Amino acid sequence: MLALVVAVGSLLFGVYVRAQQPVTISFLLRAVEADQMRGLADRFMAENPDIRIEMVRGPNAADAVENLYTTSFLLGDSPYDILFSDVVWIPKFAAAGWLRDLSDRVSEADLADFLEADVAAGVYQDGFYRMPFRSDMGMLYYRTDLLDQVGLQPPETFAELIAASETIQDQTDVDWGFTWQGLQYEGLVTNFVEIIAGYGGFWIDPNTLEVGLDQPAGIQAVEFMKNLIDQRISPPGVTNYIEEDSLRPFQNGNVAFLRNWPYAWAEANREGTPVAGNIAIKPMVHAEGEQPAACLGGWGFGISANTPHPEEAWRVVEFFTSPGPMRDFITEFAYVPSRRALFTDPEVLAVFPHYEQLLEVAETAVPRPPVGQYAQVSDILQRYLSAAITDQMTPEAAMQAAAGESRRVLGVEG
Ligand code: GLC
Repeated sequence: MLALVVAVGSLLFGVYVRAQQPVTISFLLRAVEADQMRGLADRFMAENPDIRIEMVRGPNAADAVENLYTTSFLLGDSPYDILFSDVVWIPKFAAAGWLRDLSDRVSEADLADFLEADVAAGVYQDGFYRMPFRSDMGMLYYRTDLLDQVGLQPPETFAELIAASETIQDQTDVDWGFTWQGLQYEGLVTNFVEIIAGYGGFWIDPNTLEVGLDQPAGIQAVEFMKNLIDQRISPPGVTNYIEEDSLRPFQNGNVAFLRNWPYAWAEANREGTPVAGNIAIKPMVHAEGEQPAACLGGWGFGISANTPHPEEAWRVVEFFTSPGPMRDFITEFAYVPSRRALFTDPEVLAVFPHYEQLLEVAETAVPRPPVGQYAQVSDILQRYLSAAITDQMTPEAAMQAAAGESRRVLGVEG
């Protein structure tokens, strides 16, 4: 009898313990971002004890994370319930059937509060696969104190950026003019998108699939990047830099200009940083007579097709992308919101008064082409850009080869 009581008792206890076990919702993301999102995840878990969020810290290069997700989905049994997705990944992941359609979960009215380009990035055929969390756009950072010291205005054109860098390198103890992201990875492509647009050109027209890399603007853009290194405006090591590497020397006071995303503002102004209080941002430089261009970036949430916990995964997505948590996240780390109302939110403007103007920049940012073969065409461009800026090919030969390969992948005639 006693044995039976004990047995039933432990069985019931086992059921009780299982009922109390939270469901784990897991996703992979760049390590820097996992550290930043930890606070919000903890808050969610405190409010939702039935769900545990597991954020797996991945490499800091965006497309290295994409490769890891791709491998895990290809193997079939992905451990990730959520795809924390760059703005350019959705056509590929949705076409492969790796994501759930979220159309039924979010109303048109709610989506109307998000930046149009961020929403568009989540659409594939008739479905909607990515809730925007934060937007991003490339911009030019500069040191106000250095420009004052040499008596120059912030540069508008490519030529002015080079001239101002040379003056500062000559007349102050700062070693380098300009740092950016030159490693062979997705970030290099985002830098290039801004420069080619600044010369009046384009990479791929998504409507016609025309490739513009081997047109004069494409070649000039690569020549500009290569000249920065040849003329020692940028350090030779720039060809190995991702975002964090380009920010570090700027933050330490050894560079006059930096191309980076808005988060760098908070990093560079962190208390104790030598340049804190002496930096400003502006749209990227461009060729005389052309317009500045910001590459659209950003991150959002998709839900894996094969997660056993779609309801819990959605609760996590809903939390991160709702106005309150989004506001707290972007004000703490100087990110750009995906919700339009936050650009004019008094609490946001109290911290970042310039966000009201940023909305216009955000709405005109240049997207990377939303083609299903994006990962392949980006890889082609990365390889040839890298070959040109590391002196293995001339800019012209590199862009001709890149254009030819891209046309083959896109299935258009050369
Ligand atoms: C930023 C952008 C992302 C881009 C990446 C490239 O994380 O938000 O869209 O692909 O940088 O390095």
